[in-house]
Amino acid sequence: MQVGIFQTQEAAADYAAAHIIDVVGGATDPVLGVATGSTPLKLYERLRAAHAAGTFTLAGKKAIALDEYVGIADDHPERYRNVLRTELVGEDKTGLTDELLFTPDSSAPDPQAAAARYDEQIRALGGATIQILGIGSDGHIAFNEPGGSLVSRTHVDVLTAQTRTDNARFFDGDLAKVPTESISQGLGTIMEAKEIILLAFGEGKARAVKELVEGAVSAKWPATVLQMHPKVTVLVDEAAASQLELADFYTERWNARH
Ligand code: F6R
Repeated sequence: MQVGIFQTQEAAADYAAAHIIDVVGGATDPVLGVATGSTPLKLYERLRAAHAAGTFTLAGKKAIALDEYVGIADDHPERYRNVLRTELVGEDKTGLTDELLFTPDSSAPDPQAAAARYDEQIRALGGATIQILGIGSDGHIAFNEPGGSLVSRTHVDVLTAQTRTDNARFFDGDLAKVPTESISQGLGTIMEAKEIILLAFGEGKARAVKELVEGAVSAKWPATVLQMHPKVTVLVDEAAASQLELADFYTERWNARH
């Protein structure tokens, strides 16, 4: 795991965008794994800017989402498919087309079957060339909440009270409006991405980042499974890095390589 500690979120997003532009630009038939939530927003802003400048495009390329709320209305602005449309789809965004944006069908009558279909679809696409991840304050990645299987496939999961409270800000601050379940790529599915780039910002993520980088691999902190992946980069700001015991060493190693 490479850990990059940046003074600001902006600097981390600059690095992440440059790296993704490199990887996507250099791959044949790339599949970009995209996350939602607030963490990747500055990164997406930079990808849109690069598209406008003609140095990056997702035109003709595929993007796969990590997860989707179950039971959310098709036209709800917080439905992750709609969030990703707003951020990435269209010539005025990154050139990604709606047909090549893959998300779980969470309004299907049988969400578990829809989850299995989505897992198959990801396999058929060959998995993510590079997967963007955020992390929940309870250590989830996608919506793999604590206590699940470390090798799970795409499935329906119940959101923890912590996650629903964290995400209430997207639903007028009203906890009652936050969906209770999601379809989420499993940890086993995510681990098949060829490369992973995880971003985390702010004090609220500090404990989860400490566990992710320095904790024991455990279902209590699902993101720790990433320690078993051969190519993971963790990009954090100083607040999110504040509980890392070996922060100085990670910075030394990062500086030696970049
Ligand atoms: C979103 C996702 C989640 C978020 C996490 C952090 O697709 O899979 O794991 O990355 O909940 O959310 P933010 O970025 O809003 O703090």
